[in-house]
Amino acid sequence: MPEPVILLGIESSCDETSAAVSSGNVILSNLIATQKIHETFGGVVPELASRAHQLNIVPVVREALNQANITKNELHGIAFTRGPGLVGSLLVGATFAKSLSAALQVPLIDVNHMKAHVLAHFIKSDKPPPALPFLCLTVSGGHTQIVMVHDHEKMEVIGQTLDDAAGEAFDKTAKILGLPYPGGPLVDRYARLGNPAAFRFPTPQAPGYNFSFSGLKTAVLYFIRDSLKTDPDFIQKNLNDICASVQSTIVSYLLQKLFRAAEETGITTVALAGGVSANSLLRHDLVSRAENTGLNWHIPAFEYCTDNAAMIAIAGYYKYLRQDFSSLSSAPLARMSL
Ligand code: KG4
Ligand code: ZN
Repeated sequence: MPEPVILLGIESSCDETSAAVSSGNVILSNLIATQKIHETFGGVVPELASRAHQLNIVPVVREALNQANITKNELHGIAFTRGPGLVGSLLVGATFAKSLSAALQVPLIDVNHMKAHVLAHFIKSDKPPPALPFLCLTVSGGHTQIVMVHDHEKMEVIGQTLDDAAGEAFDKTAKILGLPYPGGPLVDRYARLGNPAAFRFPTPQAPGYNFSFSGLKTAVLYFIRDSLKTDPDFIQKNLNDICASVQSTIVSYLLQKLFRAAEETGITTVALAGGVSANSLLRHDLVSRAENTGLNWHIPAFEYCTDNAAMIAIAGYYKYLRQDFSSLSSAPLARMSL
């Protein structure tokens, strides 16, 4: 039996500092330091994010190695997020990864964060990974894409948002309702207690498999502004119903496009990825629609939905198998296509 490939993965594209250790496709540890500092500002402050990564990176990596019971000399390579993301944040992870790979004289592997969200499906679990090709709805705070996944490397975006991302639609709704950042998980929590048919919001329109969320945000903003004029306590009295109504508009819009893409392309496996794939209604409705239409479905484990280094390590593993390594001069990229 060949020795398994042991990698350290590092993720620092936004506001989570994360390190993970993988052995082949098995995750041995996955540590995430969430930066609470942004809550008070209602969104991620790039300068503060970079500073927090700088403070967190060494202890997070140390703890990931400890929990995996691996010493740094046992690592075969270092995988890091090259982009897309906040450049100041990416620089912290990239510089740390380069220094460690140079010191240990092991390969450096640069990873595309959006590909890594998709490849989280290949982390070893009780369920076999999705059969190729599959359609992955990748929904995060910065992206909304329908990706045709041909293999671990070749991925094609067949639809994407023309303005805001789905995560932003959740976070901006939360902000309008006076909830702290990131609001997506809170909207999900309140929505569970509410009536999704209480209020109607227009389904956004965009051509093909593309999405648009900016109109929905404006519709929510005007609706709340007008309702507060007649009842200053409108939000408190209706919080659950507002959250449930907005959430169901977003989820049915996302799934309507994904399932239409499946029908029209003839691809029989659908999957979710990215932070918004932690949403309970999206997970539930994807499974029930797939089962009703005879499609195979895959949803990532909760810990691999929002930003994490386990997905960076697994994406690095597939690049390691192809000997697809990075040079010490590779620079972080704010934007990076699949
Ligand atoms: O993938 P991710 O952690 O970071 C980016 O790459 O953007 O996604 C973060 C996004 C945020 O907008 C957050 O509000 C949203 O995912 N999110 C959720 C839920 N959990 C996280 N949105 C709706 N429901 C959730 N349960
Ligand atoms: Zn992400």
